[in-house]
Amino acid sequence: MSTEKLYFSKTILHWFKKNERNLPWRNTKDPYKIWLSEIILQQTRVAQGMPYYFKFVEKYPDIQLLANAPIDVVLRTWQGLGYYSRARNLHETAKLVVNEFNGKFPDKYTELLKLKGVGSYTAAAIASFASNEPVAVVDGNVYRVLARYFGLDTDITSTIGKKEFQELANSQLPQNQAGDHNQAIMEFGALQCVPKNPDCLGCPLASTCVAVNTNKVTLLPVKLKKVRVKQRYFYYFLPMYNYNGKLMMRRRSEGDVWQGLYDFPSIESSEPLQENELLKLITEKFLEVLPQEKPNFENFISRYSVEYRHQLTHQRLFVRFINISELFLDKFELWCTKNDYLAYSFAEAQNLPKPIILANYLAQNNN
Ligand code: ADE
Repeated sequence: MSTEKLYFSKTILHWFKKNERNLPWRNTKDPYKIWLSEIILQQTRVAQGMPYYFKFVEKYPDIQLLANAPIDVVLRTWQGLGYYSRARNLHETAKLVVNEFNGKFPDKYTELLKLKGVGSYTAAAIASFASNEPVAVVDGNVYRVLARYFGLDTDITSTIGKKEFQELANSQLPQNQAGDHNQAIMEFGALQCVPKNPDCLGCPLASTCVAVNTNKVTLLPVKLKKVRVKQRYFYYFLPMYNYNGKLMMRRRSEGDVWQGLYDFPSIESSEPLQENELLKLITEKFLEVLPQEKPNFENFISRYSVEYRHQLTHQRLFVRFINISELFLDKFELWCTKNDYLAYSFAEAQNLPKPIILANYLAQNNN
């Protein structure tokens, strides 16, 4: 490690000048646009987030327009980006800023922290990029760069680890260049000090990097807590042909990853279900709302789709679409109506915000 004051920051700022990507949210000081970009980039890679940033800035060039938009349209614009609570928070925050702050988006750290969906990382990013406030960002990239360069092996998932890294990040921040420094350290983590096989020979910090000098690059940062992944199996029911001219859909109210999105009638399970188990559950569900009928669902299913898989940080989703035989359409629609499903034309259904697996399935099965 070099003893020169802020050697670390000077080196990465110099590196940043030569290697910075030209990203659209770096050409603005407008806290509203910076906030949009940071919410989009939470849990999302730059390449995936970029088209959504352009879409949102074009559709909602100011916060008033975002606040006035119907939530369904905001969610539809977000469709495909995942973690839809971000879009719901985005919309709520826009309304709050318009109603309580006169439409002026805050650019101070403590004010930003009060907003839904804005934690210490996002507040520091917006405050430093928009108004150069000296607050250090700590995200996944920053943990890795600091852990390696300073040889800090405290577990980054622990409370004490988070505190130590925040303090270390604060101690390295140049007070009058906070915005550039924060961008630079994140960019350095994204392009140079990458998780796997970093090019340490070509790194300007290598000679003073503790991890390089003690051969610990692959061991840092230390991350002990493994995320628990929940498996969820979804069986979606659709009519066999032409969707009978309409699709039964309902807004999900469950407090889960898809809250606010529309989907088809379904059965969810924590384990894969065999056809006989599915039929038993369908019969039970049907009897719940129409107890006097005595249906025999033996030939209910006429076709299964392949299994579609979707991996999230904390969940693994398995989705199958099941076409219902013509014979049961009346009963199916009756059941749907009793359960608050509404009928949408194919075109209407395309405009509703949906989980991306459903949107893709509809696009491919437009029969
Ligand atoms: N990831 C999160 N925020 C970012 C930013 N401002 N630039 C590049 N990547 C990011």
